[in-house]
Amino acid sequence: MSIQVNNINKHYGDTQVLHNVSFNCQSGDTLVLLGPSGAGKSSLLRVLNLLETATNGDMALAGSEFCFEKGFSDKACTDLRKKVGMVFQQYNLWPHMTVIQNLIEAPMKVANISKEEATSQAMDLLNMLQLTDKAQHWPLQLSGGQQQRVAIARALMMKPEILLFDEPTAALDPEITNQVVSIINQLSETGITQVIVTHEVDFAKKVASHVLYLEQGKIVEFGTKASFTSPETQKFADYLSH
Ligand SMILES: Nc1ncnc2c1ncn2[C@@H]1O[C@H](COP(=O)(O)OP(=O)(O)OP(=O)(O)O)[C@@H](O)[C@H]1O
Ligand SMILES: [Mg+2]
Repeated sequence: MSIQVNNINKHYGDTQVLHNVSFNCQSGDTLVLLGPSGAGKSSLLRVLNLLETATNGDMALAGSEFCFEKGFSDKACTDLRKKVGMVFQQYNLWPHMTVIQNLIEAPMKVANISKEEATSQAMDLLNMLQLTDKAQHWPLQLSGGQQQRVAIARALMMKPEILLFDEPTAALDPEITNQVVSIINQLSETGITQVIVTHEVDFAKKVASHVLYLEQGKIVEFGTKASFTSPETQKFADYLSH
């Protein structure tokens, strides 16, 4: 099992935003998180790489186990982040670094990989994502779609077992969205587990092996991609028909 989440509850102050969330993913699954605005999708994604701490519950990801009631060390958190990458809607590229510097920074600093080795891996990834000619550019010289692909390449430099995406296509036009679809589908063939928050149902259908539908912090439906054609709950059916 690549991801096991058991009875996660999450509060911000007095407000509970996740209620007894439990689900599992196998290696190579692509799980799409859907739900109305404020349902808790980003909160759940951020718990998965410990950008947020759950109030209680436990989870096992990529071989690391966390029991939120017991707490965990900074080292356990750093170890997890090496195995669980995150791609944000706003790309979050470092503006003062070129594309290639953005890619090689973490592998050199966090994973102690030599500059030569990191640069060689970075150029392979840029090649795969059709960005070879952008290696020496600054992020602000790139289009939104190019920046998003650089952000994906940067996450892949750490060779993550799990990759999390928060609305990766929200700022992209349909053609670039289709490029992201094919990148995600290629990655799933390599065995990477992907969890993707999105509002775009068409995009979700093209990438999902599984779907988790949340409302007000509670799982309403969790199933395979067959849920898109035959939803088990009326609420998910209503969401799909909007
Ligand atoms: N840092 C925070 N402090 C307090 N409340 C927060 C914080 N982050 C999110 N919330 C609240 O938690 C709830 C869930 O937010 P979350 O961002 O997870 O929703 P979402 O499903 O990702 O929504 P959207 O589709 O709009 O991105 C919302 O009611 C939100 O206001
Ligand atoms: Mg969100």
